[in-house]
Amino acid sequence: MITKEARAYVNIALIKYWGKKDQYLNLCNQASLSYTSNKYYTDAKVTINDIDVLYIDGEIANKFEQNKIAVWLDKVREIYGFKDKIKIETINNVPFKAGLASSASAYAAMSYALAKLVLPNIDKKEISKIARLGSGSATRSIFGGFVVWKAGNSHDNSYAYQLDIKWDEFKMLIVKVSDKIKTISSTKAMNLATKLAVYDDYVLKSKKDFDDILEGLKNKDIFTVGKIAEKNSNMLHEIINLSGINYYNDDTLEVIKKVNELRELKKIPVYYTIDAGANVKLITLNNYTDVIIEYFKEYQVLKTNIGGDAYLKE
Ligand code: PMV
Repeated sequence: MITKEARAYVNIALIKYWGKKDQYLNLCNQASLSYTSNKYYTDAKVTINDIDVLYIDGEIANKFEQNKIAVWLDKVREIYGFKDKIKIETINNVPFKAGLASSASAYAAMSYALAKLVLPNIDKKEISKIARLGSGSATRSIFGGFVVWKAGNSHDNSYAYQLDIKWDEFKMLIVKVSDKIKTISSTKAMNLATKLAVYDDYVLKSKKDFDDILEGLKNKDIFTVGKIAEKNSNMLHEIINLSGINYYNDDTLEVIKKVNELRELKKIPVYYTIDAGANVKLITLNNYTDVIIEYFKEYQVLKTNIGGDAYLKE
């Protein structure tokens, strides 16, 4: 039996991707930028099989998930010209799902293993394009560290790459406020947002945020990086709210309040970013993590370190 197994880590966007200009190829309207976190990952095992089938955490996946995977595999087969049907078995080490990008690590791990199985000569840039066909944010999980997903305008030129930035003091903490799986998919919410009159302005502002955060990262300037990431996240949730959706809950708001207190009253450089779910990720420097964790002691707070590239498990 021919099998390949790969691991990929989750990534958290500091500049968010929101809105598709091509639904089939998952092309985005503006570049996004993320941090790969070492704690949470997906292991994906792929095997040539007589039918496409998906198992998640040891159990056969439901019809909805099976269908999503079959659609993705059809796209990859069409674009890359192979015919094999595939059995996929994923194991997720992602402790809670609301806005923790488990689809990113899952599609990245599946893409990496699949490429090594049926397209062994392609590089990571090409694998990031295969991951994009499954989930936009997965494009970035092929790489570790700080990663850019370049928007592009076709399958050929929309891919991820790693930034040449080594910043060990940079830390991300995840504050758990919810275990619930998001009720409205990001695809559905994005499609509502792109129809709004303010969407084009959102894209322009996000492009400016991208340029500014890149400068901050090059200078290892936590004040700029944190401020821009928080602003970009707030802007995302404003447009989500304008679409009639709200991913926050009461605890999300409480955590935001406490972040502001830490920053204003205690002068701690700590900033938040929130995805399509209620959980909050905090950005800070290594020296401040203990005092932040203490300040959030009534919450479960997970300290993460920088994660690496997706890789083949031998
Ligand atoms: O690619 P998706 O469908 O998982 O959407 C990701 C959306 C955000 O997490 C909110 C932003 C991002 O860039 O990861």
